Parts: sequence; C-alpha cells; structure tokens
Amino acid sequence: MKKFIKKAMEKAPKLGKERLITLMGDIFSEYQQLETVLNSIPIATIVADKQDRIIYVNKSAIAKIPFRNYEIIEKNLFDIIDDFDISIFLANSIGSGDSRSQEFIIAKDDKDLVLEINVVPLVANGAIQGNIVLADDITEQKELDIQLKRAEKLASLTTLTAGVAHEIKNPLGSISIHIQLIQKLLKGDLDDDKIEKINKFLLVVNEEIDRLNSIIVDFLFTVRPMNLSLEPINMNNLLADLVEFMHYECEKQNIVCDFSQAENLPLVRADIKYLKQAVLNIVKNAIAAMPSGGTLKVATLFKNSKVFIEFQDSGTGIPQEELEKIFEPYFTTKDSGSGLGLTVVYKLVKEMKGEINIDSELGKGTRVTLSFPVENRSKILLEYNATHR
Ligand SMILES: Nc1ncnc2c1ncn2[C@@H]1O[C@H](COP(=O)(O)OP(=O)(O)O)[C@@H](O)[C@H]1O
Ligand SMILES: [Mg+2]
Repeated sequence: MKKFIKKAMEKAPKLGKERLITLMGDIFSEYQQLETVLNSIPIATIVADKQDRIIYVNKSAIAKIPFRNYEIIEKNLFDIIDDFDISIFLANSIGSGDSRSQEFIIAKDDKDLVLEINVVPLVANGAIQGNIVLADDITEQKELDIQLKRAEKLASLTTLTAGVAHEIKNPLGSISIHIQLIQKLLKGDLDDDKIEKINKFLLVVNEEIDRLNSIIVDFLFTVRPMNLSLEPINMNNLLADLVEFMHYECEKQNIVCDFSQAENLPLVRADIKYLKQAVLNIVKNAIAAMPSGGTLKVATLFKNSKVFIEFQDSGTGIPQEELEKIFEPYFTTKDSGSGLGLTVVYKLVKEMKGEINIDSELGKGTRVTLSFPVENRSKILLEYNATHR
C-alpha cells in the first residue's frame, strides 16, 4: 500500500481532475481498510504526535481506556486520560524516550480491569515522530494466575494432610491395641505381675502420645505462615561458614568438600536463620547419601538476575520414582529419618521467593539447586552498607 501511495503521489501533478478524484477514492479505501484492521485488533491503540496530541485511537482504546471526553482527537494525551496514575506513567515514559510497560487496575462498569500499558516511540526516518500507546486487558490472565496459585496451595495442603493422616495411623493403632490389652488385664483380680504389665503398656501409650504430639508440631511448622525477617545476605559468607561448620563431620566420613564462590555476588533478601536451616538440611542429606565417602561440591553463581546455590554430591542418587516424592512430608528412605527435611526446605525457600530444583542420577549423585531473585540491586547494596557501618 505504501508503494501504491508513493507512486500515486509522484504521478499526481500530471494527472487530470477526474483521475485525481479516482486516485483520492483509491487512497481513501486503502485508508479505510487499514482502519478496519486497526479497529479489529483487541489491543487498545492510541497514536500521539510529537506534541503529545492524539492523532489516532482505535475502537478497543475507546472501549478500554477511561477518557475524560468524547472528543479525543487532537487533545493532549496526558490531559484526556481519566486516570491519574496512567497519565503520570505516560508522561514519564514519553519523557524517557524508550519503551516502557506497566500494569494498572482501573474500575470500568463496576468491574476492576487489569490493563497492561505499553508505550512505544513512533520512529520514522530515524527520528521520533510521536508515541504509540498500547493497552491490553489482562484481567482474565491475572485471575487465572490467582486461581492457579490457590489450587497449588490447596494441592500441597492436601498432600500434607494426607501425610499426617497416614503418620498418625500407626501410633493411634498402637495406643488402641495397648488400651485393649490393659482392659483385658483389668478384668478379674489384680496381682503384681498384672500391675507391672499394665504399667509397661501405659508407658507405651505415653510414648505413642509423645510421637503423635511431635507429628502435629512438625506438621504445624510446615503449614503455618512463617514470620520472616528479611535482610540482605551474602550467600558466599553464609556458605563459607556452613562448609567450615560441617568440616569435621565431612572429614569423619571421608567426604571432600569443595566450595567455589562466584565473584561480586549480589546480595539476596532472605531470613538468615531459616536460610541456614534450609542449607543445613540439604548438606545433611548429601552427607547421608555418601556413607563411604565422596565429594560435595558447593557453588554460588549469578545468572539471569538470580543468585544460584548448588550442592552436588557423589552419593547414591535418587531413583526416578522417588524423585517425585522427596518433597512430600514424611517421605523417607532412612530408618531414623523424619522425612520432613526437604518439606521444610521447600517451604522455607518458597517463602523467601526462591526456587528449588533437584536432579539426580542413580549411582552417580544428586544436585540440589536453590535460586533467589535479586531485586533492586542498588537498594540492597545501600541497605547492606547501612547495616554494616
Ligand atoms: N542428596 C541426596 N541423595 C540421595 N537421596 C536424597 C538426597 N536428599 C534427599 N534424598 C532422599 O529424599 C528423602 C527425603 O529427604 P528428607 O525430606 O530430608 O527426609 P530425611 O532426610 O529425614 O529422610 C531421603 O530419605 C532420601 O531418600
Ligand atoms: Mg533430611
């Protein structure tokens, strides 16, 4: 179409009146076609010139963007939008000269809409000629995200509760059996022998009650929201302390521990107490997986705005079918394991906005990777300096 108009404009001075009228008609129908295309795009589109006057809006823009006035064309972009935050955002973005994007919640017909607004400079012949504002309604997408998160939470709560139900079955069964035994002994006359037996059974009942209690306490720890006190943390220092702390235990078990630190590692906002607990659980599992020695490689890494911590052991590895269960509460392959170590690690890491990933090869070893986002680097550094003066 561009070519067609260009050619027509070149020819125009030589054309007679009638041909000119036909040409105008052709150009107009081309323009209408373009407008139909723009109007059928579901993304709100506003075009403004260099003076921030609106020169074009499509139908979606009229439907989605709150304007103060019905007369939109030629009005100043910042004045005519009936939302203070959006106007400020547009003014700032346009002033900066680069593309920007932000989400806004606006009230429209008794409903809250989530709009993602993008500002893109309109560049022609190497110069900025104005700006294009694009607004996409992402309300449904956002609602879906929330539903998904809720479903995820519910699912993890269901496995947790199922785990507890399974766990309390054994002590409850044992209590029931011992009470029946005591009832039997209480029938008829009591002698010393019977009393001794009753006392023994009562002891078992007591122990089982203690076990029930600790199951419930551990369960509550894993489901209760935690009180985190977040502070900027240097992972290199934290891990160096940990490696030092575990040094004796590793040596005793013939494990060589190697720590490779990334240079200039940004700080991460986390709760130091919980973070220590999480990494200790991971290292303890690694050590337990290498009963006849091996190597434990600990490393830090900075990639894609995230700080990664890796623990690679040369232990037994985890079979594929178990890999899916290791985060489940009470899943353990150890005689005296609680099966809560990784459940707790998972919860702690998630609470600190981190991710955990475990891959493993049977007979070769296991790698546990934690990652934490680095938000607003300069702010963290500032706070860190302030707290370490
Ligand atoms: N580094 C590892 N190497 C091999 N197996 C592991 C490793 N870490 C965890 N596991 C497996 O995951 C299970 C669950 O771990 P965890 O939740 O810490 O409970 P526990 O250590 O009490 O068994 C362990 O019993 C073990 O089978
Ligand atoms: Mg463990």
